[in-house]
Amino acid sequence: MSGSVRVAVIGSGPSGLYAADELSKHDAVSVDVVDRLPCPYGLLRYGVAPDHLKMKSLEITLRKILERPRVRFLGGVELGTSISVDELRKYYDAMVYATGSPVDRRLSIPGEDLPGSFSATTFVAWYCGHPDAEVDAFTLDARSAVVVGVGNVAVDVARILAKTAHELGVTDMPDHVLKVLGASAVSDIHIVGRRGPAQAKFTTKELRELGELANADVVVDPAELVLDEAGKELVETNKTVRRNLETLQEWSTRSQRGRPRRIHLRFLLAPVAVLGTGRVEAVQCERNELDGSGGVVGTGETVTLPAQLLLRSVGYRGLPLPGVPFDERSGVIPHVAGRVQRNGSTAAGEYVVGWIKRGPTGVIGTNKGDAKETVERLLHDLDALPRAPHREPDMIIDRLARQGVGVVTWAGWEAIDAAEQALGVAAGRTRIKIANREALLTAAAKALAD
Ligand SMILES: Cc1cc2nc3c(=O)[nH]c(=O)nc-3n(C[C@H](O)[C@H](O)[C@H](O)COP(=O)(O)OP(=O)(O)OC[C@H]3O[C@@H](n4cnc5c(N)ncnc54)[C@H](O)[C@@H]3O)c2cc1C
Ligand SMILES: NC(=O)c1ccc[n+]([C@@H]2O[C@H](COP(=O)([O-])OP(=O)(O)OC[C@H]3O[C@@H](n4cnc5c(N)ncnc54)[C@H](OP(=O)(O)O)[C@@H]3O)[C@@H](O)[C@H]2O)c1
Repeated sequence: MSGSVRVAVIGSGPSGLYAADELSKHDAVSVDVVDRLPCPYGLLRYGVAPDHLKMKSLEITLRKILERPRVRFLGGVELGTSISVDELRKYYDAMVYATGSPVDRRLSIPGEDLPGSFSATTFVAWYCGHPDAEVDAFTLDARSAVVVGVGNVAVDVARILAKTAHELGVTDMPDHVLKVLGASAVSDIHIVGRRGPAQAKFTTKELRELGELANADVVVDPAELVLDEAGKELVETNKTVRRNLETLQEWSTRSQRGRPRRIHLRFLLAPVAVLGTGRVEAVQCERNELDGSGGVVGTGETVTLPAQLLLRSVGYRGLPLPGVPFDERSGVIPHVAGRVQRNGSTAAGEYVVGWIKRGPTGVIGTNKGDAKETVERLLHDLDALPRAPHREPDMIIDRLARQGVGVVTWAGWEAIDAAEQALGVAAGRTRIKIANREALLTAAAKALAD
């Protein structure tokens, strides 16, 4: 195909930006990275824990992709609301869906929706200052919190609950979040896994951080650190499992230091009901035992954990995009090596990357190889792609403006970025996130006014 090929990447999280990176290495390709939010970076900005400063600094690397001459950022544009897939085809030769897995999975147990029960997704969005999060969603007057799930998100939310205001002061959390976390009454945090310690999904670095907190002791019951044949094999063959177990065993013998908060790491407990009259008062669990092959069976014995706050951290889930095929069962867009499949055959000019391609697992780096695979297919297909009729780059902006969609351009994002840094400097911090959508748009509008 001669001349410039125009590609829309829908979603500016890590996978979308790694796709834009690969695409923009080719002189013949220009890329618009579209996001429903006024701000780029997806879960790097709105999921990665704010106290993980090193990981957050990956934004510096990713911003270089968005600064390239043939890459544009179009924020505040939602596929399905601001524009349809059919309309996008008029402006772009190819689309790469990179919309992630934005919602929580359910526990499907009685009492799950009682006040005081939240998905970790909601808590994470709140403490990360996501513009869709309700500012006053959390009060943290609970003394005991249960976190269900033993993945890295569970560890993140438990750590954020356990940290002191001083420890959190280095983050970019909005002031309303810091205020609530700083005044939190939570003294006991129970992280609850339904299988054994060898089957936990967290990684050792993240686990060990729990043992280094200024304000919290870690409590592990040695009786729950049991291994079956499958667990023993994992300890032999998997370094993460071995190190996790060593860490947990060390903690199980550690004497407590009398700190004001305790993180209890529990295993072999499956939540069966959330109890309470009008709000969460306890989480009832069935004790499980290992079945020898990595699974569990219930014993019929119940264990009741008192809790006024429940955070369900049992994984994320993809959402269908209007006009785009979706596999309800696995929560992803059906594809073969990144080429979207419609009714069993490859769709022309439609590709997919990231969590909406693979499902909600994998660290940020995993999305790099994943995006490479997809972009290789796209570049291979270039000559065969049908050419979009409206090729001038401003045409899409004009179309969106005509429909009343205010696009936040790169200059708009830079204005937001500068405003957040200025708020931080004024408070002796590096950055304070603006959590309110209107305030974000007002900050972005400053770029036009200047
Ligand atoms: C709470 C949490 C913490 C994590 N912490 C770490 C960590 O510390 N280290 C690490 O390596 N990995 C971490 N991960 C994993 C990492 O965040 C993911 O691997 C990565 O973000 C997936 O990238 P993605 O681009 O597929 O999705 P996302 O990052 O979710 O990006 C999707 C983007 O698409 C946009 N979008 C969605 N729908 C639309 C639409 N209809 N129109 C336009 N735009 C749309 C969204 O606004 C978003 O910007 C964490 C994950 C979670 C959930
Ligand atoms: N610092 C980091 O690097 C970092 C931080 C956060 C997230 N991430 C990554 O982001 C991805 C998502 O993390 P995640 O923690 O959301 O997911 P995850 O790693 O898949 O963990 C989900 C946890 O929920 C449990 N679970 C699922 N359904 C359950 C049910 N019905 N009842 C009880 N427990 C249930 C799972 O147990 P079973 O195994 O028994 O199903 C598992 O322990 C992961 O790849 C993670 O590594 C990385």
